[in-house]
Amino acid sequence: MGRNLLSGAQRFSTTVLRSILSHRSQNNPVPFANCPYPRRQYNPLRLSFPARRLSTTNITSAMASAVSLPAAVESLSLQTTSKTSKFPGCYPTLNPVDIYREHIAEKLGAAADIDPEKIYTRLQWTNTLDKGDLVLPVPSLQIKGKSPQELCKELAQKFPESDLVSPPVPFGVHLQFFFKLDRLTKTVIGQILKDKATFGSNGNQGLRDPKDPSKGRKKIIVEFSSPNIAKPFHAGHLRSTIIGGFLANLYTVVGWDVIKMNYLGDWGKQYGLLANGYKQFGDEEKLLKDPINHLFDVYVKINAIVSEQDGPIKELKEQIKTKKEKGEDVSESEEKLAKLVDASEDEKARKYFKSMEDGDADALALWRRFRDLSIQKYKETYARLNIDFDDYSGESQIKQESMSMANETLKSSGVSEASEGAVIVDFVKHGAKKLGKAIIVRKDGTPLYLTRDIGAILERDEAYHFDKMIYVVAAQQDLHLAQLFKITELMGYKDLAGRCQHINFGMVRGMSTRKGTVKFLDDILRDVADKMHEVMKKNTEKYEQIENPEETADTLGITSVMVQDMSGKRINGYDFNLDAMTSFEGDTGPYLQYAHARLCSIVRKAELDVAELPSANLDLLTESNATDLVRLLSQWPDVVLNTTKTLEPTTILTYLFRMTHILSSGYDTLKVVGSEPEVKKARLALYESARQVLHNGMRILGLNPVSRM
Ligand code: ARG
Repeated sequence: MGRNLLSGAQRFSTTVLRSILSHRSQNNPVPFANCPYPRRQYNPLRLSFPARRLSTTNITSAMASAVSLPAAVESLSLQTTSKTSKFPGCYPTLNPVDIYREHIAEKLGAAADIDPEKIYTRLQWTNTLDKGDLVLPVPSLQIKGKSPQELCKELAQKFPESDLVSPPVPFGVHLQFFFKLDRLTKTVIGQILKDKATFGSNGNQGLRDPKDPSKGRKKIIVEFSSPNIAKPFHAGHLRSTIIGGFLANLYTVVGWDVIKMNYLGDWGKQYGLLANGYKQFGDEEKLLKDPINHLFDVYVKINAIVSEQDGPIKELKEQIKTKKEKGEDVSESEEKLAKLVDASEDEKARKYFKSMEDGDADALALWRRFRDLSIQKYKETYARLNIDFDDYSGESQIKQESMSMANETLKSSGVSEASEGAVIVDFVKHGAKKLGKAIIVRKDGTPLYLTRDIGAILERDEAYHFDKMIYVVAAQQDLHLAQLFKITELMGYKDLAGRCQHINFGMVRGMSTRKGTVKFLDDILRDVADKMHEVMKKNTEKYEQIENPEETADTLGITSVMVQDMSGKRINGYDFNLDAMTSFEGDTGPYLQYAHARLCSIVRKAELDVAELPSANLDLLTESNATDLVRLLSQWPDVVLNTTKTLEPTTILTYLFRMTHILSSGYDTLKVVGSEPEVKKARLALYESARQVLHNGMRILGLNPVSRM
């Protein structure tokens, strides 16, 4: 593929890829070659995820009742603390770096007579370790009278002796702080080994009032995935599912009460078409076995008939038009047209849908069966991605009253207007030129996609009283959501509109299976798993040692798709590249899994009880490979916090790959097997800590870390 054809996302990963390849060639030529394959049977999904649903340690209020799912969907662990600090958002018992922030702010504040809180809030993390562990941009202190460079030097001199940080380094206008390694190592490793799966989480951040936990947690609705029943699950739905699942996890580990909502496309004339199609082509057995594919088949067949019938109808319409222009008599043709239209599947579908709208019990029962069976099937697929929804909502669920009420409000406040029989909102008249015009009621009085969303936003506010709602929808619908939020505001719900956010993303190009274009999520996942299986088979010797290659290939395949998706910024589109995503070379899903499995293997092979690791003598971790790793590990809670600001999965993924790079360049130096017992124990404590953080990060991304491969 030509370089110029690469998307932004791919260019990004190519750069990272090159850096890791150079690492790898020195230290670890082919990662897969070193994979320790299992000798006994295992199930990667089950092994890493015992079947339990909610496991928050300190927060129990959200304990949802268990739902039986075809596969185990495990939720994330979370910790909170009652120990807070006088500085805002500072939790030294959960985040080791906060200890240092607090320390630096107080010491420097006292020595230079500056408000410590001012220093605290200006301290920033660094992008590379050579720039320090924390940095203070001196101009941000807004101290007048001296040049920032001079002031920087002066502050460096004034900073007192400290057992936590080395004397600060003035670098231009930045004051760099390096943490003293002995203390840092003990704090960080001690904390990770203690907090385990909860390290990096912080339930306090989701509190409505951090000073008064009794006021409860903030509530967020994450609406994502939202496929259309009986239509293909396209790339937009895939990205929404991946990004939405990630966001739901992220908000969970920072303590929000998260409601995962799927807003199905489950209403409209196409269900009339589908129902009539089912009467002709439906097969009960097939429906029960594979509802999603069967309904799609029916939909395709009935649509083919619609297209066939469309031709003659259009032709006749043209003829009538020409005849009219010539002043000829059209009554006969019009009669013929009426007959054709009346007998058409399209018209029958319209009538059927009308009966659904009017509440016809039989029509609704059939529709409900289609919907329920499809949801049941979707749940299985979502479970493979470790996702479950709290609410399967959908266009069908929006009440007529909510829409009528909204229309009334819009009309009486002069926001909407009649236009050629329809009702529209002309945004130009309301100071939003870019939003153009939108129809909200059709000529025939029926509501549209937008109308239902207006009803939905009001219903959700009423039902959930949420603090925030996120719509994870492709950038192609930017206009739609901007119109929705603007209308909400114009209706007088400015506060509600302000609590809503559209999280958009770019397109995936060329997502198809190797057999043809893709229809459903399952097809994609199966195809990638097959490809992954082929890649694994190439290494015959290792392959033969895998007890359960299909399951491993399945998990690695899912990871491949997700990591490729999360590698770049959301807004960048990318090409769906099966070869690249399933490769063990570069910053790929399989490589990330490999890094985790390798750490698991090191811990396993060392034959030491993990519970004993906290007593290790960490003074023995002196190599820069080890201390760099510790410094990176200390950043994990900050990375999670930063991700709540960027809302980009790549923030976490980039961090995890940085960690795997440091790890892979250190394996030769930091050997475990064959080292002195005390050294072995200390290094194992380090590796186990790295494994834990890698695991925690992968879990937020929605990946299932495997322990063997
Ligand atoms: N079902 C829609 C589609 O496939 C996506 C729904 C997005 N969410 C919403 N509230 N409009 O395009």
